[in-house]
Amino acid sequence: MTNAVIECILSRSASKYYDPAATLSDDQIGELVRIGTSAPTSFHMQNWRFIAVRTPEAKARLLPIAWNQPPITDAAVTFIICGQLADSSVIPERLAPLVEAGVMPEAMVPEWEKPARGLYAEHPQRQRDEAVRTGTFGASAMIYAARSLGLGSTPMIGFDAEGVTREFGLADNEVPVMLLSIGAELPGNWAQKPRRPLSEVLDFV
Ligand SMILES: Cc1cc2nc3c(=O)[nH]c(=O)nc-3n(C[C@H](O)[C@H](O)[C@H](O)COP(=O)(O)O)c2cc1C
Repeated sequence: MTNAVIECILSRSASKYYDPAATLSDDQIGELVRIGTSAPTSFHMQNWRFIAVRTPEAKARLLPIAWNQPPITDAAVTFIICGQLADSSVIPERLAPLVEAGVMPEAMVPEWEKPARGLYAEHPQRQRDEAVRTGTFGASAMIYAARSLGLGSTPMIGFDAEGVTREFGLADNEVPVMLLSIGAELPGNWAQKPRRPLSEVLDFV
């Protein structure tokens, strides 16, 4: 089973070495995020925000609170992928463009908002889980979009979450889900590592 998309997925690996001279324009960075936001989110809440750290000054602020990881300096951009705590009250506003576009009947909006309220209100762990899921789906789409454009990517959890929250002004309802560096690679990056066998990770029921 193969095609161009599958080849793209199978050939990705986490980049270690980036070309520090290779930049991305703000339009190119915006395009990566636009593609990322086509990822699915629960009740279409789109509970995410992406902070593109791409100037030398901003990179210098991020570096010491991100374990001095080289991609922060060398990759064209490092995104602070923020997930926002799931909050059903945003749903009418987030669904309004679907109603306007004729995708969803207006009467259906409360049918989405009500179960979402039951699922998340008074359940902080679920609110946070959803923030992490949302950020992860968005980052994942960006990783493969980058690969398809010949760019490397590095998801990173090696950072001080409280420091990043403080330094980059994340709101109280925002979780720094991960850092994601993207940029042109240098030669010498590892090929994708072998995976656990299917027999260990797949259960048919
Ligand atoms: C959530 C997450 C956090 C990670 N954090 C880091 C990190 O802080 N620094 C780093 O160099 N790589 C990091 N990685 C990259 C992993 O080490 C890498 O994805 C894993 O070894 C598998 O290799 P591959 O991505 O090349 O297939 C992270 C990956 C994920 C998914």
